[in-house]
Amino acid sequence: MDTLTLAACAKLNIGLRVAGLRADGYHELDSVFQTIDLTDQLTLTLREAPGTQVRMVPDRGIDPNANLVHRAIALLDESVDRDAGLSVQVDKRIPIGAGLGGGSSDAAATLVALSHLWGLGLSRAELQPYARRLGSDVSFFLHGGRCRVSGRGDRIEPMGDGNHAIIEAYVLVVPPWPLATSEVYRTFDQLRSSSLINSPYANDLEAAALQLEPRLGSYRDWLLAKDVAFGMSGSGPVYFALASSVAEATDMAAAADRELSGDALVCQPTTSGQQWPLRYP
Ligand code: C5P
Repeated sequence: MDTLTLAACAKLNIGLRVAGLRADGYHELDSVFQTIDLTDQLTLTLREAPGTQVRMVPDRGIDPNANLVHRAIALLDESVDRDAGLSVQVDKRIPIGAGLGGGSSDAAATLVALSHLWGLGLSRAELQPYARRLGSDVSFFLHGGRCRVSGRGDRIEPMGDGNHAIIEAYVLVVPPWPLATSEVYRTFDQLRSSSLINSPYANDLEAAALQLEPRLGSYRDWLLAKDVAFGMSGSGPVYFALASSVAEATDMAAAADRELSGDALVCQPTTSGQQWPLRYP
């Protein structure tokens, strides 16, 4: 097996509580994470020429040192003895700086794929220590589906997929500008705010995101006027609204496309963090 192609799923936070500041400077979280069928596609190929090449399409100029795919390869590379080179192409479809975990999911997918391609046979549990070192959300994507996530983001309790039958589709409203997670948390610390709404979808980081990017308010107002259940994902700025059918979600997305700037996407939940033909142990 010389080439592997797999899809890395985005996530939504179905509610997010920040329970306090931890001794390590991170925040203590309590959230429900759900993977969705908005994906990046990764193609990993073994090459004769030594070295590693990572190509992002489109190339948004992400610094290779900060690129989690590079970092995942380098981390796993330390523990294998290999001669062959590696090239990776990442077709980016998950918006960057959106609160959808795209970079973290790419990193988890890279770990899973390399374990196969390099014949390491590492289980999810064995990949967890690598995931933890790469970022707070990476551990979750090794599980995917719907999980209760706490701690720094690395305590994961799978919740099963019982809710898929109820929540059939989500509409994602994606503003055309990103937000930096670290800045949203910094603003949260200054504001010491809690969530704006009392609902299962309440997100304690929403007031901080609105403070940092006041233009986000018009997206929130639009959703309030629609009288639908909605929440912000992660550190934003993406909002998601719940729809009871794909047809209802498609109508809402068409209205968002007409009335708001940015993108509106219809997504459905997935039961895993990666999609590919192979089963993973
Ligand atoms: O772990 P990761 O590098 O993805 O986190 C990005 C930023 O988000 C951190 O630098 C930190 O500012 C913030 N963060 C946090 N508490 C968490 C997760 C992330 O403060 N549990």
